[in-house]
Amino acid sequence: MSEKKVLSYSDSILEAGGSMSRFPLIPVQGVPLMNHIADNWDSISAFEPHPSDLLIATYPKAGTTWTQEIVDLLLNDGDQEVCHRAPIVVRMPFLEIFSPPPVPSGLDLLKEMPPPRVIKTHLPFQLVPQGFWKNKCKTIYVARNAKDNLVSYFHFDRMNQTQPEPGPWDSYIPKFMEGKLAWGSWYDHVKGYWKEREKNNILYLFYEDMKENPRREVERIMRYLGKSLPDDVISRIVELTSFKAMKENPMVNYTFIPVPVFDQSISPFMRKGEVGDWNNHFTQEQSRVFDEDYEKQMKGSNIPFRTNI
Ligand code: A3P
Repeated sequence: MSEKKVLSYSDSILEAGGSMSRFPLIPVQGVPLMNHIADNWDSISAFEPHPSDLLIATYPKAGTTWTQEIVDLLLNDGDQEVCHRAPIVVRMPFLEIFSPPPVPSGLDLLKEMPPPRVIKTHLPFQLVPQGFWKNKCKTIYVARNAKDNLVSYFHFDRMNQTQPEPGPWDSYIPKFMEGKLAWGSWYDHVKGYWKEREKNNILYLFYEDMKENPRREVERIMRYLGKSLPDDVISRIVELTSFKAMKENPMVNYTFIPVPVFDQSISPFMRKGEVGDWNNHFTQEQSRVFDEDYEKQMKGSNIPFRTNI
């Protein structure tokens, strides 16, 4: 009798090999998503979470992985060994991700995992499966200021060989402004969750606050999770989730996603981890045009973003 071969996440990507390519984006209810996600939309949308499941939602490159690692350490009382049990993509399935076989989809991983689970998503609020809100699942949303978010996404799209070609920097900015990148409009994304945060008990965090005072934000997450940990454990978690520590941690630095998918020789996943790197990318004119449009797109919203700290 032949046994089913269990592949590691890295090996499954290597085995998928040539079928991993820069996937086209297909609109799902007006939001551009990678074709494999769009093709499987009905099953993603029908996903039924358990009320004990926790959702971590972000626009891509807003600090998802950082928040995921903080949450895992908090849930495991700062136990570093336990948090080394598997790559972050396996510990916390990415709800909507679908790739060519044999790479497991987010739904495949979730099927094998008993609740309570921590689930990652980049879906805008309106596309999140309704079960999350019906079941009152705890949800942590992390937002990052538009300009740094854009810069981070640009470098990510250069190295992630499954996302559309970013093209030159100058032409990437309007794509972001027009919501043409994967997962759509940053503006709609941050506003969508902001509007719903009170009604749906969403913890809305900012990347800039996490950089400014990581301990304060770790404690904020801890309280939201209903945990209370001793001071020394909190200090350890802050240390283990510093940019430097995470850059060296193979379970979070995405070296487990090999070429042909993530080519970190082009740009590392743990790239800079700073607030204000946009200053090194935008010309004065690009910044002016961006700000003018930003005012229009964010009119009437009072989300306290900071582009420098
Ligand atoms: P940069 O490209 O600006 O360096 P995501 O996990 O949502 O894909 O976000 C990735 C961004 O978060 C990258 O930003 C990455 O460097 C940054 N990041 C990851 N871990 C971090 C940490 N511990 N501290 C600060 N920034 C972090």
